[in-house]
This record gives sequence, C-alpha cells and structure tokens, in this order.
Amino acid sequence: MVGVAKREIRIGMIGYQFMGKAHSHAYRDLPFFFGTEIKPVLRAVSGRKEEAVKDAAEQMGWESYETDWRKLIEREDIDVVDIVTPNHTHAEIAIAAAKAGKHIITEKPLALTLEEAREMLQAVKENNVKHMICHNYRFAPAVQFAKKLIEDGKLGHIYHFRANYLQDFIMDPEFPLVWRLKKEVSGSGALGDIGAHSIDLARFLVGEITEVVGTMETFIKERPAGEMAGGLKGQADNSEYGEVTVDDAVAFIAKFESGTLGTFEATRFAGGNRNKNKFEINGEKGSLRWDMENMNTLDVYFAEDEAGLQGFRTISCTEEEHPYAGAYWPPGHIIGYEHTFIHLIHEFLHGITGNVQPAPNFEDGVKNQAILEAVERSSNSRKWETVRN
Ligand SMILES: NC(=O)c1ccc[n+]([C@@H]2O[C@H](COP(=O)([O-])OP(=O)(O)OC[C@H]3O[C@@H](n4cnc5c(N)ncnc54)[C@H](O)[C@@H]3O)[C@@H](O)[C@H]2O)c1
Repeated sequence: MVGVAKREIRIGMIGYQFMGKAHSHAYRDLPFFFGTEIKPVLRAVSGRKEEAVKDAAEQMGWESYETDWRKLIEREDIDVVDIVTPNHTHAEIAIAAAKAGKHIITEKPLALTLEEAREMLQAVKENNVKHMICHNYRFAPAVQFAKKLIEDGKLGHIYHFRANYLQDFIMDPEFPLVWRLKKEVSGSGALGDIGAHSIDLARFLVGEITEVVGTMETFIKERPAGEMAGGLKGQADNSEYGEVTVDDAVAFIAKFESGTLGTFEATRFAGGNRNKNKFEINGEKGSLRWDMENMNTLDVYFAEDEAGLQGFRTISCTEEEHPYAGAYWPPGHIIGYEHTFIHLIHEFLHGITGNVQPAPNFEDGVKNQAILEAVERSSNSRKWETVRN
C-alpha cells in the first residue's frame, strides 16, 4: 500500500525438515494473506549436510545456506534465528543467538530440562530480544475463539479440562530408534513431544497448573537404529538394536490454580489416531470441545439454551468473527494445519516491529517444562508432585 512503511525482517533458520517446511511456508504465506506491511525475508537456512541443505534452500525459497549454525548466528544480515532442530540443540543455539542480539523463535519443548529452559529465559531477558515458542495449536481460529468464549464468561467457572493427544506412528516395533526415542536428544517421549502441546492449550485456556500425579510407560523397549525421514516417517538401517529411553505413553491428573481438575493422556500407541489432539472443557454454564483433525470447528454447549434444544452444536470457525479466519476465504472455505504456523509467526513478527513481547514465549516454555518435569518426577515417585515454578 502506498505510504505505508514496509518492514523487512530477515530470517535465519536452523534445520530444514518437518518443522523447517512448516515455518518456511508460514514466512512465505504471511504477506500473501496478511499484507506486506511486514515482510519476512528468507535470508539463510542452516544444515549439516551441504547437498541436502542446498536442496532444501532451493525448494523452500531460502536465499542462501550455511553448513554451521554458528556462522548463521554471526551473520549481520539476519534479525531472527528460527530453531527447528531436535530438542537437545535448542538451549545452546538459543543462548548463542540471544548473545548475538537476534530475536528467537524455537520449536517446542523449550529444552531438555527445566534448568536448561531457565537458562534460555535468562539469556533472552538479559539480551533484551523477543522470543517465542512454537505451540502452534493455540493459533487455530477455533481455539482462539474458545479462549474468547471463556474470557467472555460464557462457560462460567471451569470444572474440567480434559485433553488427549493420540498418535500411532511408532506402533510398528520395527519403527527405528530415531531422535524422538532417545532421552538425551528429546528429553522425554510422548510427554514432551505431544503432551507439551496439551499442557500449552490447558495453560492458555484455563490457567496455571500447580500439582500433578501421573505415570509413563514404554511398551517397546528396543528398536533398530535409524533416522527421522521427513514428517513423522522413520528410516531404519537395521544394523543394530538399541534401547528406547523415553515414554511411549503418559497419563496424568492435574490441579489448576483455579480449582479446575485436569486429565491428560498423550500416546504414540493409539492405533488409528494419526494426530488426534483434542480437548474438552466443562464449565458451570457450558462446555467446549475441539479436535485438531477437524480443526475448523468447535463444539459448544450452553446450559442456557432452550429446554428441548440443549446439547452440543458444531460451529464452523471460518467467519470474520473468528480470529485470523477473516484473512482467508469466504465462510466455510476451510484452512489447515499450516495456517496455525502463519498465525504464530504473524504474532512473532508483529511483536518485533511493535516492540511487544508475544506469547507463547520462553516464560511459557519454562512453565510448560516445569509441568513436564513434575509429571516425570511423579511417575518415578508414584506420588503427587508440586510444579516448581
Ligand atoms: N509445533 C509442532 O507441532 C511440532 C511438530 C513436530 C516437531 N516439532 C519440534 O520441532 C523440532 C524439530 O522437529 P522435526 O519434526 O522438524 O525434526 P526433523 O527430524 O524432521 O528435522 C530436524 C532437522 O534438524 C536437523 N538437525 C538434527 N540434528 C541436528 C544438530 N545436532 N545440529 C543441527 N541440525 C540438526 C536435521 O538435519 C533436520 O533438518 C523439535 O524440537 C520438535 O519437537 C514441533
């Protein structure tokens, strides 16, 4: 638009597979749907193997590439460092990026441990850079609308938050021992990989969790060596078997500050459920239900509905009244998984230009990590554990 200052924000991304693709797409589509006032520039992507990172740069539209993430962080033509590598790298990269004065967006979970997560938060605060963690499911229009209904008091006091995050991609015992199944690389299994998303939705919609009791289980103890091969696929090399050191499944109960009772289940062994990320909230005046696999809709129930017509109804969150939905198509013309990342990156880049700290950020990452840590402690102690905030 003539007369409107456009602000270019130059991105450097580290890693380029599953989340690399989701983030690259989001940067590219952001100005297409939300206007060019803020324009992400895909300046450089970093990876360890030259041929592979070169191909990725070409496919995803990055101007240049690096084969050492430290070089990418040193570059003066980069404003933002985007971390889409496995969890054990998040802390080292984020702390180095903060010291270099870069704004940081990182994938979840924030770190391997609560201690590491706290160091990351300290680094971004000390260096006064903006920070964000990619809990993208918050940014589905239906979830944002659920938040609005809760804030408007439509549910009244909330009694229950119930979440299941169900996947099945490692049920085959020959699925390889990828980084997601090694504690020293991932921190935990289903708990930190997908349970962390449910925890974020719980904190976003209902508030802080103070105490947990839970249990974690590993069904398949050994697997053949291998690597992730894009998305949630694995490539076994069948050379030797190694030990799975994380949970395949976790279940826990949580008490919220508000008095709400939470129940959570996260598993990679729920056959037939590819990415069934769902929650139900029950309040004194109504209930809400959402399911990622039908992410454009929200089921709502209001106790004040006329007698005889009461029950859950399904609304399509594709109207202008639904956050972000107005940037896309006419009502009923649905959007998908990738759009949740566009919305998250929209908030992040506007936070940078507007000098406002967006959420969820490293503070949320630390609070999330404290809950993950408490669940793990409880699984070991077989007792209720306090969340160490
Ligand atoms: N927000 C979400 O819904 C979501 C979904 C999937 C994954 N994630 C998170 O995103 C991150 C990446 O997961 P993914 O599924 O994209 O993994 P992936 O295995 O598909 O990709 C990882 C990338 O990191 C690179 N890499 C691996 N080890 C590295 C190292 N030591 N140094 C530098 N680069 C390295 C790989 O070459 C690859 O490009 C993880 O933290 C994961 O928990 C988030």
